[in-house]
Amino acid sequence: MRTIIYTKYGAPEVLKIKEVEKPKPRDNEVLIKIYATTVTATECTFRKGKPLFSRLFTGITKPKNTTLGEELAGEIVETGKDIKLFSIGDQIFGISGTNFGAYAEYICLPEDGVITLKPANISYKEAASSCDGILTALPFLRDKGNIKSGQKVLINGASGSVGAAAVQIAKYYEAEVTGVCGTSNLQMVKNLGADNVIDYTKEDFTKSGVTYDIIFDTVGKLTFSLCKNSLKQKGIFLEAAIGLAIIPTVLWNSISNKLYDGKKIKIAATGLRPAPEKIKDLILLKKLMESGRIKPVIDRVYPFEQIVEAHRYVDKGHKKGNVAIVMEGNNGD
Ligand SMILES: NC(=O)c1ccc[n+]([C@@H]2O[C@H](COP(=O)([O-])OP(=O)(O)OC[C@H]3O[C@@H](n4cnc5c(N)ncnc54)[C@H](OP(=O)(O)O)[C@@H]3O)[C@@H](O)[C@H]2O)c1
Repeated sequence: MRTIIYTKYGAPEVLKIKEVEKPKPRDNEVLIKIYATTVTATECTFRKGKPLFSRLFTGITKPKNTTLGEELAGEIVETGKDIKLFSIGDQIFGISGTNFGAYAEYICLPEDGVITLKPANISYKEAASSCDGILTALPFLRDKGNIKSGQKVLINGASGSVGAAAVQIAKYYEAEVTGVCGTSNLQMVKNLGADNVIDYTKEDFTKSGVTYDIIFDTVGKLTFSLCKNSLKQKGIFLEAAIGLAIIPTVLWNSISNKLYDGKKIKIAATGLRPAPEKIKDLILLKKLMESGRIKPVIDRVYPFEQIVEAHRYVDKGHKKGNVAIVMEGNNGD
């Protein structure tokens, strides 16, 4: 089968297509023929090995796992002898987890991995493209932000993968949502359900005097100190794009919270959550897509062979929602 490997950190050109042996499922594994995967901002970070902090997860001098790719959708084509939950022919979607490996024609995953049946009304490429954003936005807003109906929630970077998911999740929790994005994305963010939109190229919301219960910076463009005055008393600042530089602020805030009027900064590495928690959220995502509450957002679709071009595009930091990768002879539908 064909897979995409990288053996050193660097520009998109480090990604190479390679022929390898098709994997064989163990007794507790299913073999999935992948029809769609994606290129996420996090995978671009892991490909570059920058910031250096990211290498704590991927290997200090070179990548430990040479095949990237986390989100996937496809069909089960073989099952190990102990498999009870899935059958050959099942159409599934989910994430491969911290071992990655979805930039490939086939992958073996345990049946208790983060996979479930794909909604019938959603294509493979839409299903794959929805996982990372929602499985990040849900634990941030629900678990770290304790989001409640009627709260005022601001999502910065509302047009990105995590941001577009966060707008929809915040609306699911019946919050009043303000989406901050660039001029060309204002209508898209409104269509996702945002009650208000702010164009960050024209207006600085931190100077407007309006205060929020939650400010979720999905793209690492804000800081807690910049947003403090835009938080209500006991308001929460959430940051998805984490690096070493933010850790002292988080630690200082946790020990001196009273100094900040009870305002908190919270971070999370949602990909490191235990699989059972992620499976529950994946099943919720499936239900929300089936009922039309969550709309997948796809910006561009690239064939497998154009993975380098896809990474170049995502590296620019301006994708709208998600970038899907589809396999040869298949358009991800
Ligand atoms: N902590 C975790 O567990 C976790 C999990 C998943 C992802 N992440 C991280 O979350 C971050 C976001 O990921 P993503 O996939 O959502 O990124 P993304 O889709 O690549 O973000 C691109 C979007 O950011 C917007 N943007 C760029 N500059 C902006 C600015 N100054 N203000 C507001 N919006 C701006 C762009 O809109 P314009 O084109 O209009 O500029 C574009 O739509 C990444 O750092 C990723 O590694 C963290």
